[in-house]
Amino acid sequence: MLRARRGTARTIVGIMPELRSTDTVTGLLAEIADVGRDRQRGGYSRPVFSTAERDLTGWFIAHAQRRGLDVHTDLNGVIWASSGDLSSGESVVTGSHLDSVPGGGAFDGPLGICSALVAFDRLQQRGFTPLRPLSIAVFPEEEGSRFGVACLGSRLLTGAIDPDRARSLRDADGNTLAEVAAASGLDPRFLGQDDGTLAAVGTFLELHVEQGRGLVDLSKPVGIARSILGHGRWRITVEGQGNHAGSTLMADRRDPMVTAARVVVAVREAALAHPDSRATVGRLTPVPGGTNVIASSVTLWLDVRHPRHEIVATVVQAITTEAGRLAAEEGCRVTVAEESLSGTVQFPTGLRDMLSHTLPGSPLLDSGAGHDAGVLAARVESAMLFVRNPTGVSHSPEEQVEADDAEAGAIALADALQALLTRD
Ligand code: GLV
Ligand code: MN
Ligand code: MN
Repeated sequence: MLRARRGTARTIVGIMPELRSTDTVTGLLAEIADVGRDRQRGGYSRPVFSTAERDLTGWFIAHAQRRGLDVHTDLNGVIWASSGDLSSGESVVTGSHLDSVPGGGAFDGPLGICSALVAFDRLQQRGFTPLRPLSIAVFPEEEGSRFGVACLGSRLLTGAIDPDRARSLRDADGNTLAEVAAASGLDPRFLGQDDGTLAAVGTFLELHVEQGRGLVDLSKPVGIARSILGHGRWRITVEGQGNHAGSTLMADRRDPMVTAARVVVAVREAALAHPDSRATVGRLTPVPGGTNVIASSVTLWLDVRHPRHEIVATVVQAITTEAGRLAAEEGCRVTVAEESLSGTVQFPTGLRDMLSHTLPGSPLLDSGAGHDAGVLAARVESAMLFVRNPTGVSHSPEEQVEADDAEAGAIALADALQALLTRD
């Protein structure tokens, strides 16, 4: 039985009537394989607070409760499933997210949750006695695919986003986060920095599918995060003259779609001009969006990343300047608004070294993808483990993890948690 010892107030939880040693990461993933399938792209579309995501969080809570964990949802919608008394401020937390990008893979997020449940089982089966409490956390809107800001739950929790701004974020249907959160049972007035919840967290360790080819190239199943690239999102709005597709001569047009297309090319060129930067327009929305209508405006969502966040700013400045020039050539107007910005994260070397010692042979990797662990790192000691993805492809149905690697990842997580839970 996993139970915390040390301190009289620490209650013993974790009573598990039926220990299913048969639970495996792939077995758990199979249980949710039909939730939120995307019929158009394939893969999964599981936006935060959608039916699919609610089904997944309900599924997670049932699994946590079956393991005897105390489950509660905090003021920002983060779900915590805990063993032990959290008031010591020394808990070890693992977890990830259950929301997805549109048409995403099966592993980005859920691998970390399923591995956390299996790691908990393995610790119980080992019968070891932890010195501190253990929690599994599920963070909402990690992808930012509904309200635009990535890692929204962890940003709210840590105070990295102004709650008024968060409340007024809108989804594609125009619903505000405040409205959707309220409909999901959260009180939007209480969104925002939650020092009480954070005070319980000693260390956060997130396991995640690798979203590139690092581990494939090194022939290793599991790696340890060294850093997360600096990254951010910007909303570029090009405004022109909405008009008729047949009666407007080419010479008379102020077509924001033409500017938008040229801006997309300029984004690529700006990234190529700054080695090791990545810049993407993955979403473009014309208004009103009719085949025989010259759009009156087009919104592009820009994502820029670089190992050094100063270079992110340089790339975005180059794009902004070029977008202004291209808009002027078409007689359009352009605005560039920052939606979110995350500095480069270097995970603490002491914790990294400890993980390297616990998981010998696991290489250090720099993550091109953002994660809640990167946001939490500003407030609590944080680290990450990655599990090999044989395709190297992510944010796509092609994302993959072999069954043996998934179980190796859960064992690595259990070993790392055990080391953290017994650390003096
Ligand atoms: C999340 O996976 C991101 O890096 O955008
Ligand atoms: Mn993720
Ligand atoms: Mn992702």
